Amino acid sequence: MSCPVLNGAIGAEENGDEKNNVALHQELEGGKLYGEYLMLDKLLSCQEPLSAKDRVKAVHDEHLFIVTHQAYELWFKQILFELDSVRDIFSAQKVDEGHTLVLISRLNRVMLILKLLTEQFLILETMTPLDFMEFRDYLAPASGFQSLQFRLLENKLGLKQVNRVKYNQQHYKEVFHEEQHIRELEESTSTPSLLELVQNWLERTPGLEPDGFNFWGKYRNAVANWLEESFLDPAQKEQDPAAKELRKAEYKKQKETFDSIFDENIYNAYVARGERRLSHQAFKGAMMISLYRDEPRFHQPYQIITLLMDIDALLTKWRYNHVMLVQRMLGSKVGTGGSSGYQYLRSTVSDRYKVFLDLFNLSTFLIPRRCIPPLTRHMKRALSGSFTEDMISKINRMRLFAKERSAQMGANQEAAEEDSEESEEEKKVNDNDDDLDRVTF
Ligand code: HEM
Repeated sequence: MSCPVLNGAIGAEENGDEKNNVALHQELEGGKLYGEYLMLDKLLSCQEPLSAKDRVKAVHDEHLFIVTHQAYELWFKQILFELDSVRDIFSAQKVDEGHTLVLISRLNRVMLILKLLTEQFLILETMTPLDFMEFRDYLAPASGFQSLQFRLLENKLGLKQVNRVKYNQQHYKEVFHEEQHIRELEESTSTPSLLELVQNWLERTPGLEPDGFNFWGKYRNAVANWLEESFLDPAQKEQDPAAKELRKAEYKKQKETFDSIFDENIYNAYVARGERRLSHQAFKGAMMISLYRDEPRFHQPYQIITLLMDIDALLTKWRYNHVMLVQRMLGSKVGTGGSSGYQYLRSTVSDRYKVFLDLFNLSTFLIPRRCIPPLTRHMKRALSGSFTEDMISKINRMRLFAKERSAQMGANQEAAEEDSEESEEEKKVNDNDDDLDRVTF
């Protein structure tokens, strides 16, 4: 059912007594009306202000407080639904390029929902702190800290326990007691997070093979040349001793920064300290996509990288807007969940909570366009998007044909000849195959 009001019985009734066939059919077959389909009876009876219990009338703003939280939880549910499907697609051994558009549209949807959620606090801010005080005591010990869906969201994205700020020296799981909740939380940490799946995908970036295009080797040389030309040479040519020292120090600083990605031991030390999240190989993949994002086959991977950063940035904004609201409502009072309130929440607005931190830091390692290593003819073709589905299946057919032919020919030839170089047909097809290997992630 797309829109129950337009397609269903309500629309038909509003247009007089002429019911369209679909509506009639639905009615006869037991089709549902708007309110039934959406179970509005249930949904709209879940707002029970606690302040009504020992007052003649509930505190007016408690209704807004409840509805706002419920709206957040509904959207969290939708985000988790999208996130699970995105994780499913990324779980494949190779992500079919036909699926990247679906990935992009779902990640984009998550991003837009989060955008809405960062704004939604504005409505709750129409409540004054004094109005909030009127019903706050009724809530205790309820707290957003007990939001299961929020924890699932963090875990499924890839937030690690070591990066969380301690809350009253407690593990966040300690506030959950229902078996089902504990199970869901455990599953959210034991199954691959979006970060891990994205990492696997980036590790397969075409062009990283040392015996193929060898992006990392080429990029490393390009960086060395750029550092020499832009920092070392000017330092050596500098006449003024003080300026010379400054320039040399700048060169040293730049070189150390790049060494932190070229020296795998240094890189892994950052990972061990939790300051970098991606494996070295995945980082190389992300770097390559960033530098060659203008190539058609990297357009979509680049969009995915951008959306992952958007999601991270919006979650940081969510935390920031939430803590601003909390400070406005509570000042430095402790939270109903028992935390220090503002102080605790303020400490979560930090890079520790950014799951895709490494993607933001790619910019540190960009080099000017003119220094980016040129693509080889093969690589250019592989990333050009010039292979359509038809061409791929034609090449596969040719490959099969060539194999069959060489098998036939081989049967009639001496064993020594069988081991000789590939036939012209095979060569042609394998040339194309080399390219094809490089276009699937
Ligand atoms: C008047 C409005 C609000 C106040 C005063 C408030 C207050 C707080 C406080 C003090 C905490 C820290 C835990 C504690 O000690 O209780 C907290 C955590 C939290 N709140 Fe709120 N909150 C408000 C609105 C919201 C809304 C609308 C949501 C939407 C779902 C929300 C979701 C959360 C979540 C998910 C946490 C856990 C954050 C974390 O641990 O990183 N809060 N809130």
